[in-house]
Amino acid sequence: MRWKLLILFFLVSYLPLMLFSSILLERMETYYLDQSKSEWLRKANMIASQINQGNYLKDDSNETAFMYMLTETSKDKEFDARILVINEQGFVVGDSSQADLNRTILNKQVFDALEGQDSAEKQKQDDTMIMSAAASIVDKEDKNLVTGAVLISASIDDVYDSLNAMKTQTYLLSLLTSLIVGLLSFFTSGLIIKPLKTLLRFVERITNGQLDQKIDITGKDEVSELGHAINHMTEQLARVEQSREEFVSNVSHELKTPLSSIKVLTESLLFQENVPEEMYKEFFTDINSEVDRLNNIVNDLLTLVRLDQKEIPLNISEVNINKMIQDILKRLSPLANQKNIELTYEGQEEVNAQVDEVKLTLALSNLVENGIKYTPDGGKVHVTLNLDHQDAFVSVKDTGIGINEEEQSKIFERFYRTDKTRNRETGGTGLGLAITYKTIVMHGGRISVESKEQEGTRFLVKVPLRYQLDAR
Ligand SMILES: Nc1ncnc2c1ncn2[C@@H]1O[C@H](COP(=O)(O)OP(=O)(O)O)[C@@H](O)[C@H]1O
Ligand SMILES: [Mg+2]
Repeated sequence: MRWKLLILFFLVSYLPLMLFSSILLERMETYYLDQSKSEWLRKANMIASQINQGNYLKDDSNETAFMYMLTETSKDKEFDARILVINEQGFVVGDSSQADLNRTILNKQVFDALEGQDSAEKQKQDDTMIMSAAASIVDKEDKNLVTGAVLISASIDDVYDSLNAMKTQTYLLSLLTSLIVGLLSFFTSGLIIKPLKTLLRFVERITNGQLDQKIDITGKDEVSELGHAINHMTEQLARVEQSREEFVSNVSHELKTPLSSIKVLTESLLFQENVPEEMYKEFFTDINSEVDRLNNIVNDLLTLVRLDQKEIPLNISEVNINKMIQDILKRLSPLANQKNIELTYEGQEEVNAQVDEVKLTLALSNLVENGIKYTPDGGKVHVTLNLDHQDAFVSVKDTGIGINEEEQSKIFERFYRTDKTRNRETGGTGLGLAITYKTIVMHGGRISVESKEQEGTRFLVKVPLRYQLDAR
């Protein structure tokens, strides 16, 4: 795995370097060739003007001087080239190597030169690179008259030799640089990877359930930011885990109380001889109400669990909230009558909202039922319904025992019951408000509470008229 990284680092530096080198070398070759061309052209012209000065082409008497000049120049160390002189008709009248004397040479370069056009070209002959430069010779008197041409051929292998040497060196250097860069990147990447590996091991420990640890973070780079995020996540996980444990222990505790009552009641009947019939009746009534309580707790728990399951969506339909509340009150009025509590309602008639009818009925019932339960005999529970252009507002107000300020924030927690109500006969499961809260939030709404001890409590619910799927 790691060596692949090394190759990658190497290639990443090698490829651009190669590209860069080859472009550079190509430019250099063009430059040196151009240099060499103009140099040989200059030399060809130099000879052409010597011939012009000596008037060698017109004046045969200078023949020896002409030949001497040619051979000497071609042998010159700096020159070292073959020189051909061609007359107007294309005959070779002078050749430093003597080989082509009196033959005709009419290639394009010579032809162009006779037309007055100088040129230089590189050519490949056998294994050597040749530069041939052709220059026209003009008449001594008439500068517009071309009397012949000079053709110089010189080996430019030396240019290519040094270019090739440069090529090899450049490519070797690129290779070496890339190797060094690759190795350096490889080892520095190791330095970056090391803290990541530490994080990885830490995350593995968290996955195994060790939530009580923290990463030591130094510095202020992206990796340490990731470390902070992981620490934060671990804290959250620990919190979730803690509340889960609390929930389980609460559930067990709540179930245990009625179970142990049932156990005590049944045993006292079982182990007693000649129990009178009234006692049987009394105890079984108690057992029955404990079973009811168990039943309530389990039902409420099931409701909560279902609300927690995100896959089960709300069953939304257009519901008349006005009618819904009136039905709730009708159902709960016997309970209010028992306690001689005045249950009143005041509301707008046309309040239609997109809600889950069953769930919202349960949620609002809980509020009204609480109002009745936690208000002493002879008190009042007043429900109102209002709306604005986007929400419906339901208020449930009682003249009951109230909730002190510290406990107001806790009553929506599962199983929470205030100090005052905890040991009462009226005591429910402590899950009602948790269900109500969850349901309202799922509808994209809000619930809040205002209360004063001994004076009364008011719950205010806001539910959007239009249900939006992403409101949750
Ligand atoms: N209207 C109210 N007046 C006073 N206390 C209330 C009222 N509604 C709720 N509470 C307090 O909040 C607790 C939680 O309510 P809830 O979840 O409905 O549980 P319960 O099953 O006890 O009714 C209640 O036990 C009670 O202490
Ligand atoms: Mg309740």
